[in-house]
Amino acid sequence: MKSHRLSFGGGEEPPSPNCSYVLSMQRLCQKILYFVYFNLMSLPYEFCVCLRRYILAKLLNQELEDLIVRPWVYIYGYRKLSIGKNVSINHNCFLSCDGGLEIGDNVSIAHGTSILTTQHSYDDPVIPIKEQTVKFLPVKIGDNVWIGAKVTILAGISIADGTIVGAGAVVTKSITEPDTIVAGVPARLIKKRF
Ligand SMILES: CC(C)(COP(=O)(O)OP(=O)(O)OC[C@H]1O[C@@H](n2cnc3c(N)ncnc32)[C@H](O)[C@@H]1OP(=O)(O)O)[C@@H](O)C(=O)NCCC(=O)NCCS
Repeated sequence: MKSHRLSFGGGEEPPSPNCSYVLSMQRLCQKILYFVYFNLMSLPYEFCVCLRRYILAKLLNQELEDLIVRPWVYIYGYRKLSIGKNVSINHNCFLSCDGGLEIGDNVSIAHGTSILTTQHSYDDPVIPIKEQTVKFLPVKIGDNVWIGAKVTILAGISIADGTIVGAGAVVTKSITEPDTIVAGVPARLIKKRF
């Protein structure tokens, strides 16, 4: 587990003193692409879906086959994000990726979902909680997962292949058994799919 202060936006680390000109230019291009992505967030048109996919593929340095990202999807710390094939992320989702976020193939994330990969330490009685160190805990979402509307997935969680997470759930513990349906706050097994 890594523990250091939260980075901003793209999750940049402080520039190294011997950072080469090429690296600086690459960073600048990434910043421009991210700026364009942010300004495309509200546009619903299919052209913008394609453009968002193209920009994310460049930023993530990955083929993003059939990715659909709907308007107003915030992605923080994209350098720690990996996305599988045929993934859709719907309106108003919030992906915090600074701690590492892996999304498998054939995943559908419904609108208003938050996926968190960081949380504050809170054990120092003197320092305000917001000033205490931030823990970075990766989240892994398996293949063929359907995450319902307005779900919250907390830092450090893994979700097994074939899981359905019911609308409004807060997932506080990893889901290890494949092909189950979980729901509620906190999310609990409601049934098996088959
Ligand atoms: C999880 C879900 C798929 C389950 O659907 P289902 O198989 O038809 O389940 P049922 O309606 O038979 O419900 C089984 C039990 O779970 C409960 N339950 C179902 N969904 C729930 C949810 N989201 N939160 C809490 N409890 C839920 C039901 O109340 C029922 O409880 P009971 O046995 O005490 O009566 C569905 O309820 C759901 O949340 N779908 C997400 C929809 C969505 O977000 N769509 C976005 C667009 S893709």
